[in-house]
Amino acid sequence: MEARPRPELFDFHGVGMIKKFTENWDNIQNFKARADDILIATYTKAGTTWVSYILDLLYFGHMGPDGQTSIPLHDRVPFLEICKPPLPIGTDLADKLPTTPRLIKTHLPVQFVPKSFWEQRCRVVYMARNAKDNAVSYFHFQRMNSGMPEPGDWSTFLLNFMEGKMVFGSWYDHVNGWWEKKQIYSNFHYMFYEDLIEDCRREIDRLCSFLGLSPSAEEKERVKASATFDNMKQNKMTNYSTIDTMNQTISPFMRKGKVGDWKNHFTVAQNEQFDEDYKQKMKNPDLKFRYEI
Ligand code: A3P
Repeated sequence: MEARPRPELFDFHGVGMIKKFTENWDNIQNFKARADDILIATYTKAGTTWVSYILDLLYFGHMGPDGQTSIPLHDRVPFLEICKPPLPIGTDLADKLPTTPRLIKTHLPVQFVPKSFWEQRCRVVYMARNAKDNAVSYFHFQRMNSGMPEPGDWSTFLLNFMEGKMVFGSWYDHVNGWWEKKQIYSNFHYMFYEDLIEDCRREIDRLCSFLGLSPSAEEKERVKASATFDNMKQNKMTNYSTIDTMNQTISPFMRKGKVGDWKNHFTVAQNEQFDEDYKQKMKNPDLKFRYEI
């Protein structure tokens, strides 16, 4: 099979983007959120699928296996900004979603989020992941996904990551921008991948209290058990095996699911350079990440 041409990264209002995320821009900006919508926001590879599946199970897990065993998660939790015909367009999928509430996913930096989400006071769940593991995961994702720009080798990729030359822009701007939003917008739950790895049950409790849900202890255990890395890796509805731009023999979508895999990728010199640069970019002492647990 002929290799598909990779999309080119370009500057879009100061943020790195590729065409499939800007093609539908007017419809994205004019998207009509409903008051009970839940927006799941993340930087790419921060654990979006994991938190989306947990919310999907919390809201719809008790309704029988129907959707969860036959409709891939990416159709159940539409990706707002995606526009790559013939695949369904994110905004159309969201408009037609039969569930209430609608769970909607986005990787947009906060300044690009359609204003109706704020006007409707929608609940927002933001999940962040430490920069080093996020970068490693993103590198492998770009290697396996021909729908993303060519990543180059690891050292080139890491420099681009530090310079913010990435699809959806700079990790540093993303996590900080959403953190700042949380300070002024109260319907907001900011969570961390590392916390979810450390104690998934505690994080499910926190999510439930934010969402106003009160499932039984057994239901919460069921959610936790269904959303383990191993189960999601086996599950065709969550492992992205249905997306043909992803070559899972290069690197599986459900790759490692660990905190600290960066240590297997960063050289000592890269780590020192990264830490030095990080200090300059991450000045807010309240926003702290863990690089091992
Ligand atoms: P790795 O590449 O480090 O393994 P996203 O969904 O935002 O694309 O993020 C994908 C990352 O989340 C991948 O990280 C994937 O393995 C990890 N992930 C997905 N589900 C997970 C789970 N149940 N437990 C731990 N990590 C998970």
